[in-house]
Amino acid sequence: MEIGIDKIGFYTPNTYVDMVKLAEARNVDPAKYTIGIGQEKMAVAPVTQDAVTLAANAALQILDEEDLEKIDLVIFGTESGIDNSKAGAVYVHDLLGIQPHARAIEVKQACYGATAGIQMAKGHIALNPESRVLVLGTDISRYGIGTAGEVTQGAGAVAMVISTKPRILVLENESAYLTSEVMDFWRPIYSETAFVDGKYSNEQYIAFFLNVWEQYKAKYGATLADFEAICFHLPYTKMGMKALREILDQGSQADRERLVAHYQTSTSYNKIVGNIYTGSLYLSLLSLLELSDDLKAGDKIGLFSYGSGAVGEFFAGRLQEGFREALAIAEHKALFADRKELTVEEYEAVFSQTLPTDGSTVTLDIAADPAVICVAGMEDNKRLYINKTNE
Ligand code: HMG
Repeated sequence: MEIGIDKIGFYTPNTYVDMVKLAEARNVDPAKYTIGIGQEKMAVAPVTQDAVTLAANAALQILDEEDLEKIDLVIFGTESGIDNSKAGAVYVHDLLGIQPHARAIEVKQACYGATAGIQMAKGHIALNPESRVLVLGTDISRYGIGTAGEVTQGAGAVAMVISTKPRILVLENESAYLTSEVMDFWRPIYSETAFVDGKYSNEQYIAFFLNVWEQYKAKYGATLADFEAICFHLPYTKMGMKALREILDQGSQADRERLVAHYQTSTSYNKIVGNIYTGSLYLSLLSLLELSDDLKAGDKIGLFSYGSGAVGEFFAGRLQEGFREALAIAEHKALFADRKELTVEEYEAVFSQTLPTDGSTVTLDIAADPAVICVAGMEDNKRLYINKTNE
């Protein structure tokens, strides 16, 4: 049975800060941010957006009536969720109007959460071939103003419908994965911002990539020649290249040129959004599929997922006939074109805005946020969500 990605939606808040201006404000050579790190713009989430609304906005764009009837499992992958008990998937299920006889859960393992969701979805569909599963990778990445990690922040969500006979990518069953207890990046429940051992996290990312790649080759006899492209989890766009470079000498000149060229295309969206944690690998896949003009049905795309702490996985998918028609290219172009630049001061002010934690009531200015689904306020320690199309 062929199972895979039938639809991919993406949402990012409509405000961003420019990396050159951020570098200047931090007294850093802008080339460090734009070349050394490889980022151009960083999405900034207003207080009216959180992991729930980002995910719901990403899914809203792609779901039709049939999806709403057939989805019976919603998996919400996040590491910036809003509740230690209740799954963000339950809010998304409600905000989108998915039929009630569904399971709705949240999964967590740093940036690996959405990949875990996809693998669970495949198992569910193998047992229930008529089902469709909504997998969400949604996050707001926060390290703090003036930290080394600040340049690698971002905000956004990817929503994927997983089904049989998928129109975009059939996911192959071959996969290699690894878990090992490492403290490269973590966020204790009392902290709004992540703790990270930056250099160590880079090393672990590469070590995990090499481990799962060697495992995959040994298990399935794979070579670089099998892959038209390899997409990476991208905390910043230089990171995937550091890992890819480690294996390029295993291929021919043609393999090297093809993989590097496709890698560049796979980083375009991530460069102007930043790290969206769980969604980053799938944003990179989206960037590759929507911006490449030389991919064709049957091409094999490798996928490297890494979630600090850490879990890594290498797996692959095959592009399907007519996959371009199943993408929302025009919508994503418009989403990027409509964004507004914030000054560094404005970004810092937005960054410091938080919702009350003392049970008090607040009403937020949702008219200032063009997103269809927003956090409208807070009351009795409950977030009040709104889908403007239902008003
Ligand atoms: P840093 O100390 O500010 O930067 O931290 P650096 O001094 O290492 O410089 C970065 C690069 O810029 C270097 O290149 C410099 O040479 C270059 P590299 O050696 O790496 O190739 N550079 C310049 N280039 C051009 N012109 C210049 C210039 N100056 C310097 N003038 C770091 C950087 C990424 C560590 C930091 O931003 C950080 O801690 N970020 C957060 C952690 C992170 O993103 N780790 C990635 C791997 S872990 C992961 O992917 C998981 C994660 O997504 C979380 C999850 O799973 O949930 C993070």
